[in-house]
Amino acid sequence: MLVLGIESSCDETAAAVLRGEQILSNVVSSQVEVHRPYGGVVPELASRHHIRNIVYVVRQALADAGVTLAGLDGLAVTRGPGLVGALLVGLQTAKGMAFATGLPLVGVNHLEGHLQASRLVEGAAPPPERYVALLVSGGHTALILVEGFGRYRMLGASRDDAAGEAFDKVAKLLGLGYPGGPVIERLAVAGDPAAIRFPRALPRRDELDFSFSGLKTAVANHVRKHGVPQGDAVNDLCASFQQAVVDVLVRKACRAVRDRRARALVAAGGVLANSAVRAALTGAAAEEGFALHIPPVPLCTDNAAMIACAGITRLEAGERAGLDLNAEPRLRL
Ligand code: KG4
Ligand code: ZN
Repeated sequence: MLVLGIESSCDETAAAVLRGEQILSNVVSSQVEVHRPYGGVVPELASRHHIRNIVYVVRQALADAGVTLAGLDGLAVTRGPGLVGALLVGLQTAKGMAFATGLPLVGVNHLEGHLQASRLVEGAAPPPERYVALLVSGGHTALILVEGFGRYRMLGASRDDAAGEAFDKVAKLLGLGYPGGPVIERLAVAGDPAAIRFPRALPRRDELDFSFSGLKTAVANHVRKHGVPQGDAVNDLCASFQQAVVDVLVRKACRAVRDRRARALVAAGGVLANSAVRAALTGAAAEEGFALHIPPVPLCTDNAAMIACAGITRLEAGERAGLDLNAEPRLRL
């Protein structure tokens, strides 16, 4: 099945064409530069830039794949969760194309998309039917038991800030700009992760929920007491903060795999772009003897290939959306 996917839930305008699980094109237009001066995503600006870019992004995805709209078998678009104005741009574009061409259309949950990204790794064995998923992005931190496509059981989630959000807020506090993840990762490389002992924010050891606001407050208190660090000290702070996040993610993920007697962990979402997170999970998987599936970095951060992938499974199952398909900003898995 040849499907065009469209993603516009946050600050990436993206379109991709997939034939089954083969990526023919994967175009992402990032708005990072637009939002950088504000230290975070400004929803109204995000919507306006999606409107400005979406037609070009879709055209580029079709051209890169060497296909025309008429040659497609279907359309898949993110319907939530995300910023309502941003989601509407992708949705209206997809619905317009469905109306004009008569192509079948399906709405996709952005989080389901992140989980499906692990199926798109060329040459790698796909994850088994049943697995534990660790989803870590700017808006979500969650452990999910997946018992087949569309069969999800929440095992734990963040009670406050998402892990990606914690990276962004700490970077803002240190005056490092937006988004926080990549810059903290870069500085952390030269720092000592044991320099400052930040709390591990494990509400209760036997629980699979997360909490990152205590860690963020600890960083804020440290800055209040010692001032904004400079030079080596900023590297140490970044490394220590990152290590605290890594420790919590890895410990809880391992606990979930053990508790549920799962054989595999699928990790997904923007924070999985972080090489310290990837390395720690890889080490833990080897130690504990479970299979680990982490997509390459471009498939961890927001993209439309993952949306097309989830869309194909839904289209193949006969699912169809009408032209009343609407944005659902708080959509859950
Ligand atoms: O999945 P994603 O692209 O968008 C959402 O659906 O939220 O995730 C974005 C989040 C941001 O908070 C960003 O700071 C974080 O992922 N992120 C990282 C890294 N790259 C992106 N966090 C840590 N290390 C990174 N290298
Ligand atoms: Zn995302």
